[in-house]
Amino acid sequence: MSGSVVLFGPPGAGKGTQAGRIVVRTGKPQISTGDMLRAAVAAGSELGMEAKGYVDAGLLVPDVIIIGLIAERLQDDDASSGVLFDGYPRTIPQAEALSKVAEVYAVISIEVPDDAVVERIVGRRMDPETGDIYHVAFNPAPSGISSRLIQREDDNEQTVRKRLSAYHQQTAPLADWYAQKGLLVRIDGDRSIDEVGMAIEEALSGAL
Ligand code: AP5
Repeated sequence: MSGSVVLFGPPGAGKGTQAGRIVVRTGKPQISTGDMLRAAVAAGSELGMEAKGYVDAGLLVPDVIIIGLIAERLQDDDASSGVLFDGYPRTIPQAEALSKVAEVYAVISIEVPDDAVVERIVGRRMDPETGDIYHVAFNPAPSGISSRLIQREDDNEQTVRKRLSAYHQQTAPLADWYAQKGLLVRIDGDRSIDEVGMAIEEALSGAL
């Protein structure tokens, strides 16, 4: 199936977790602007240096940077039959730019209350070797790898509150924008990872 899917929701909603499952099922490449920005920061590139201040402060990186990053990524061969966007678009200008370069056929909005977001973010741990996402209580890593797990620098309560504020002010209005286009599918994300995954599968069944 050509065309792309957008995973939408607040920080910690479970976009990355669910993206991993959808990628396995569909073979569509996952495009996470957060992962791309962290890779640029780690590489010390000009883009990374420019983005770091925004990411560390819990602010959105300016649209012009993000739109350029996506336009370049969509030139890659693996993106020709549609992709899975994780955390993009996050503003109406980003969504308008996306509509010119890709066909989006579903926007999955994973809805989670703010308090649950904070608990998820503060307890998140990442495996730097595989990119796998864990949580100290809700999705513990196998004991053999626990010593290599890392915590993202922006995964602290103070920064996540700022990320939530950016989400409510700049990103949440996109839900109505996509609803008006008939593309928005609201999923209750405040339940187990498997239950959320099954609800997304059902929502996308027939389309994938
Ligand atoms: P980004 O990396 O995209 O961060 P985010 O949107 O804040 O999302 P997260 O990665 O924090 O959460 P997630 O929804 O993927 O949740 P996860 O599956 O990991 O962006 C970082 C920064 O980059 C931004 O703040 C901004 O500065 C910049 N940026 C990125 N994209 C941008 C853009 N388009 N425009 C401008 N700036 C941009 O799950 C979280 C935790 O919860 C995990 O521990 C997981 O195990 C657990 N969990 C998942 N599901 C469940 C469940 N159902 N029940 C219990 N626990 C669960």
